[in-house]
Amino acid sequence: MEETGKVFIKTFGCQMNVYDSEKIMACLDDRYIEAASADEADLILLNTCSVRGKAEHKVFSMIGRLKPLKDLNPDLIIGVGGCVAQQEGQGILDRSPLVDLVFGTHNIDDLPDLLDERISKGRRVCRIREESDKVTSAQVPSHAVISKPTRLVTIMKGCDNFCAYCIVPYVRGREISRPSVEIINEAESLVENGALEITLLGQNVNSYRDPGTGDDFIDLLEKVDSIHGLLRLRFVTSHPKDFSMELINAMASLETVCEHIHLPVQAASNKVLEGMRRGYTSDEYQSKVAALRGVIPDVELTTDIIVGFPGEKRSDFDMTISFLSEMRYQNAFSFRFSPRPGTAAAQLEDDVPESVKRGWLPELQHLQNKITARKHEDLVGREVEVLVESTGKKENGFLEGRTRNNFIIHFPGGEDMIGSLINVKVNRSRKIHLEGEVVK
Ligand code: SAH
Ligand code: SF4
Ligand code: F3S
Repeated sequence: MEETGKVFIKTFGCQMNVYDSEKIMACLDDRYIEAASADEADLILLNTCSVRGKAEHKVFSMIGRLKPLKDLNPDLIIGVGGCVAQQEGQGILDRSPLVDLVFGTHNIDDLPDLLDERISKGRRVCRIREESDKVTSAQVPSHAVISKPTRLVTIMKGCDNFCAYCIVPYVRGREISRPSVEIINEAESLVENGALEITLLGQNVNSYRDPGTGDDFIDLLEKVDSIHGLLRLRFVTSHPKDFSMELINAMASLETVCEHIHLPVQAASNKVLEGMRRGYTSDEYQSKVAALRGVIPDVELTTDIIVGFPGEKRSDFDMTISFLSEMRYQNAFSFRFSPRPGTAAAQLEDDVPESVKRGWLPELQHLQNKITARKHEDLVGREVEVLVESTGKKENGFLEGRTRNNFIIHFPGGEDMIGSLINVKVNRSRKIHLEGEVVK
């Protein structure tokens, strides 16, 4: 075995990729330690996202920016994994001579092998497996255990929904649930190692089904909820069509399950929803939200919205605008429709001009910002319970925490407070977070 090198992983895209990057780190553990920045790394891995054209573009521009590092250090290895890798495969090696290895979303375990091939045989390598029926776990990587109160656990991979615009089923494969014993074991070991909050991950967690026992998502929630020492339980993503009354009741009754749900609506016009093959109408969505708010009054919702889906008219978009006012989301992540290769919507004419999409998006975001600001202002002067998650990214001496219902709050404090539950008085509303001070 050669000496230990340094690896820098840049993660794009969703929490699946965040989780996979932890898994990558774990499978390289005996050969590479984490580099603080790309400049000092011997191995740079890009864990990529291809959900929108823009996301994909970012990957290739990042590869280009690595050229000076490769010029300085010809032994530097650059690898590309994740969803763009799964999609483009060998094409990435052809397109960019800087890239040494490419590995697909089902090939993370092959990484040590691929590195050997690159290092000892000097070959540029690409390995893409089409499907893998096993959802392997990230062993708890020793370096990642330290002081991280919030952790992710994958419960399923892939997706069978084939929403017309979405590339995920093609780059992540069919939906496969992981046995619940494995999930519980992983969650228990994270909690033993200091995790206080766990987020269960899947593209559509509501359709989870244990391949052996047949346990459904609610059974799983009950089991994770009962892990001793766990304070908070979250899950993403819930598909509105499978979001059930049973789940709403479980959310209300299980102590650790937090009062927040990410429920992507995508659009409010039924015509557009049908074109997207989402499997619900805006009325159905609305009545589920009403039921949820009926049993959990302080629940907060977040959502995703696509503007400019093929065939969408101004009148359709107006429905999304009024829907936002009615729903009063805590936050909405909004995107311009981007045709993705191989998806059903890519066959349709992308007939909403880019200039129109570019006009609609800020209109929607402006309205959402006002709604978010209003929610934040309503909290000013109040005291909230916060789990201290990390040091704030921007301000020095500030910590970042979150309320159970997903408000982010920054406040001055020492690193020793990370991982504790504290009360914070809200002093000020900012665009995406609140500011406050610890209540003594
Ligand atoms: N499984 C999740 C998330 C999928 S991707 C879900 O079902 O919601 C995250 C978000 O990206 C989607 O909710 C959607 O709003 C957006 N998105 C996906 N494909 C897109 C495309 N082709 N163009 C624009 N936005 C897209
Ligand atoms: Fe994509 Fe739809 Fe699956 Fe979400 S549910 S990953 S949007 S196909
Ligand atoms: Fe992107 Fe792949 Fe996630 S396409 S959104 S990283 S599943």
